[in-house]
Amino acid sequence: MAVGIFDSGLGGLTVLNAAQTRLPELDFLYFADSAHAPYGVRDAEDIYQLTRKAVNELWGAGCNLVILACNTASAAALRRMQEEGVPQGKRVLGVFVPLIEALTERQWGDNSPPREVEVKHVALFATPATVSSRAFQRELAFRAIGVDVEAQACGGVVDAIEDGDMILAEALVRSHVDALKRKMPEPQAAILGCTHYPLMEEAFQAALGPEVKVYSQGDLVAESLADYLARHPDMLGDGGGGYLTTGNPSSVSDRATQFLRRQISFQAA
Ligand code: DGL
Repeated sequence: MAVGIFDSGLGGLTVLNAAQTRLPELDFLYFADSAHAPYGVRDAEDIYQLTRKAVNELWGAGCNLVILACNTASAAALRRMQEEGVPQGKRVLGVFVPLIEALTERQWGDNSPPREVEVKHVALFATPATVSSRAFQRELAFRAIGVDVEAQACGGVVDAIEDGDMILAEALVRSHVDALKRKMPEPQAAILGCTHYPLMEEAFQAALGPEVKVYSQGDLVAESLADYLARHPDMLGDGGGGYLTTGNPSSVSDRATQFLRRQISFQAA
């Protein structure tokens, strides 16, 4: 009965945590491709190959549904994987759409033509690969008109978080917010477009100021997963939950335990 959750590393835990809170009766099998993190500095082909391999492992372990709790993989690999076709009874979904639906005040699956929305100036913080894919802007353009998006590629933040160096991560967040504000002095909303960044949400909010609404994906993705599973109960899959990593299980477990403030034990993928 497990749903697969994939990320290059520890960032997807922010989505997993929200999903576990929203759907406490469900098992989740989490896969961290820690040996190859960060993905955000890789090219699209590389991200696609790594993502497909990990998703295949989760499908093979009995998950019918895999969530790419990674914007970089959602931006660079999801569409190609879906277009190439997935095995019968299996599904892979990304994390962009629930966030953009929230930003554009849409109900789940509302595919009506793009329209004007309240928010006009949006700051997007994401990895270099997500920013250069322009996938966020493309998905937004399907749903809204007249929204000015300024993207800031936040080099180094994921590495610092994966290394547990939160002081460096905080300093980098401040400098990326400063860089963004030089391009867009008064954003109304800020998107944390990388699942690692909610671990630094306070630093983003403090640097942006209280008047900027910060959107992160955990609760939004959890809510849309609950809705999806209610409509597609066959997607629950079989096999149990747990935590897999391509990295060193003991150091990845230590870091995950520190972030989620509860014991997390990873095993070798
Ligand atoms: N957490 C990921 C994301 O949402 C990946 C970051 C990375 O590996 O660079 O983009």
